[in-house]
Amino acid sequence: MTSERAANRRQKLLRQLKKTGTDALLITNPINVSYLTGFTGDDSFLLLGSDVAVIISDSRFSTQLEEECPEIDAVIRTSSVSMNGSVSRTVKQAGINRLGFESQTTSFQQWERLDQDMKSLELVPVDSVVEKIRQVKDKFEIGETRRAVHMAQRGFEVIKASLTSGQTEIDVANELEHTMRGFGASGVAFPSIVAVGPRSALPHAHPTRKTIGESDFVLFDWGAETFSGYRSDITRVITTGKPSARLKKIYEVVRLANRRAIEAIRPGARCCDIDKIARDVISQAGYGKNFGHGLGHGVGRVIHEHPRLSPTDSTELRAGMIVTVEPGIYLPGFGGVRLEDDVLVTRGGCEVLTSLPLDYEESIVAL
Ligand code: GLY
Ligand code: MN
Repeated sequence: MTSERAANRRQKLLRQLKKTGTDALLITNPINVSYLTGFTGDDSFLLLGSDVAVIISDSRFSTQLEEECPEIDAVIRTSSVSMNGSVSRTVKQAGINRLGFESQTTSFQQWERLDQDMKSLELVPVDSVVEKIRQVKDKFEIGETRRAVHMAQRGFEVIKASLTSGQTEIDVANELEHTMRGFGASGVAFPSIVAVGPRSALPHAHPTRKTIGESDFVLFDWGAETFSGYRSDITRVITTGKPSARLKKIYEVVRLANRRAIEAIRPGARCCDIDKIARDVISQAGYGKNFGHGLGHGVGRVIHEHPRLSPTDSTELRAGMIVTVEPGIYLPGFGGVRLEDDVLVTRGGCEVLTSLPLDYEESIVAL
């Protein structure tokens, strides 16, 4: 990452911090530290304010910090100084009176130590301020997500073309990961789901030794990660045996819910309203009880990011956001269908980054 890009992100954050009235923010989420500095190591915190920018780290990372973010000061603690103690010392030296901290990732132990070490320090919980900036992706991030989608899709096409009835869910998941790495992925975006027949009724099924031939359909939910850390997230269901009327029925409902939701994605649309469009399609078909999760989520450096396409998120979509659209119907004992695309919000509407076929007829594979 260029130092200019990281500097722009820090400026955006400083503008947001002004609204909290804090002198600085202690950033403890490693993805946020990386996003704001370009540093790719771990176990390091960033203290950022208008008068301070310092990473608190240890000697494993001193060379890496000089290479990746030379413009940021570094406090390299020795093994005899704890991270918590080093944070207190750095905050004291910076003369901070009101310190914001990331309320979702700062440990209670860290909070307690700061509270004990500096009686006059005011500690202010700050919720998801960096995550909200991360919602809107820049050109580089969009390009990386496109690559993550491309690698995942190519991997899937190879797997689909060579699928045999004797392969287990575990075999297929392993092969998918290996194939995506062959296409340039650093790894999987999350543990791949390969779920045969009734197992697909579990939205987050783990692969087992069940074989592909044991049922008539298989659900795949997988994604690739690029070396810069961007991820894709796709779900498709393929039909491997005699198509059943019940499967076709729920497939068509989910397909329609996916299409209707995507048609409504544009800047200014509220996440909860997009969720409702898909949920209404599924409810009107009589399967409302069988769609328990949100419609989708932001995807980027982390597989589930802000915003959430869910009934409880009223965030307005903005150009540059990338969200998944993944309606599903799950029938315990029978199986489930989820169809998931990755969608970029554009100025004029949206662009679906995923391009694997979605229509039922195209889901049929002869083994
Ligand atoms: N595709 C996995 C998930 O969104 O939870
Ligand atoms: Mn997803």
